[in-house]
Amino acid sequence: MTTKEKLLELFESNKGIYFSGEEIAGKLCVSRAAVWKAVKNLRSEGYEIDAVTNKGYCLSAKTDILSAQGIGKYLNPQYKNMDIYVLDSIDSTNALVRKKAEEGEIEGYTVVANEQTKGRGRYGRTFFSPQGTGFYLSILLRPPHYSAGQAVRITTMAAVAMCEAIEEVSEEEARIKWVNDIYVKGKKVCGILTEASFGLESGLLEYAVLGVGLNVYHPAEGFPEEIKQRAGNLFDNTQNDIKNRLVSSFLNNFMEYYVSENPAAYIEKYQERSLVIGKQIKVISAGKTKDAFVYGIDDECRLLVRYENGETESLSHGEIDL
Ligand code: BTN
Repeated sequence: MTTKEKLLELFESNKGIYFSGEEIAGKLCVSRAAVWKAVKNLRSEGYEIDAVTNKGYCLSAKTDILSAQGIGKYLNPQYKNMDIYVLDSIDSTNALVRKKAEEGEIEGYTVVANEQTKGRGRYGRTFFSPQGTGFYLSILLRPPHYSAGQAVRITTMAAVAMCEAIEEVSEEEARIKWVNDIYVKGKKVCGILTEASFGLESGLLEYAVLGVGLNVYHPAEGFPEEIKQRAGNLFDNTQNDIKNRLVSSFLNNFMEYYVSENPAAYIEKYQERSLVIGKQIKVISAGKTKDAFVYGIDDECRLLVRYENGETESLSHGEIDL
């Protein structure tokens, strides 16, 4: 760990508390000049660090900056040693984690970015991922013995985990638009994309990369025209340390479901949070849309629909519109 990272860890676990330069130097086993340089570096990254004569330095509680140290602070003890890397900008966190998976990286490797220049969405679309107003996270999973049909569970658990994280830190209700969109106040605030690799002979999952992107704040330049109508964000004003809290809460919740290996733990919650059960929707398939009524979601997370001619279908994947 660099001096800057060590200092950030100290500050993050003691927000609002002052430490003299000498005290910090002693704790981190570095010179006072090195402390000053680390303070300067953190400030240049946007951290608000107060310096008061006779009191020392302290990290303002008002900052909302993603960091591995800040995320680690809120993680449950059993997940504190997860490999989490925070990047300022990357083409796509899913692309990076897939590359790491191919190189043999172990389960739990997580990348969180402040910006993506080529964020990936479903069906080859791009995912709008502007700098600083949200977070874009990918985690590498290697569940043993998952069939292709079971792989959808990862998205399902993630959707429930993200709704719970949102509700833990805000006053808002979060709902799921099958299969992987999270809506708050009628707008999509989060998208989920699980990319997977299967063994040719076994047909079993070799690894999965779970990616989630959350719009925490309104983007400075607004949402692009094509998503303006349906995209939304969680907060209008800067909140204290909300991004680190959201990431860790999502990881805590998701990992609980994932390690429990018990679909009953999250399927019912997924069904309860559904935005589409009991609604008329449009099923989009091969460029055509068909009106349908949603009469349920089964325990494998398939959408149960009835078309206007009375025929029913259970959809294991696909796209719908409200
Ligand atoms: C969608 O709504 O179509 C799914 C969007 C998934 C976006 C996330 S952001 C983190 C991860 N990296 C990517 O390139 N995409 C996913």
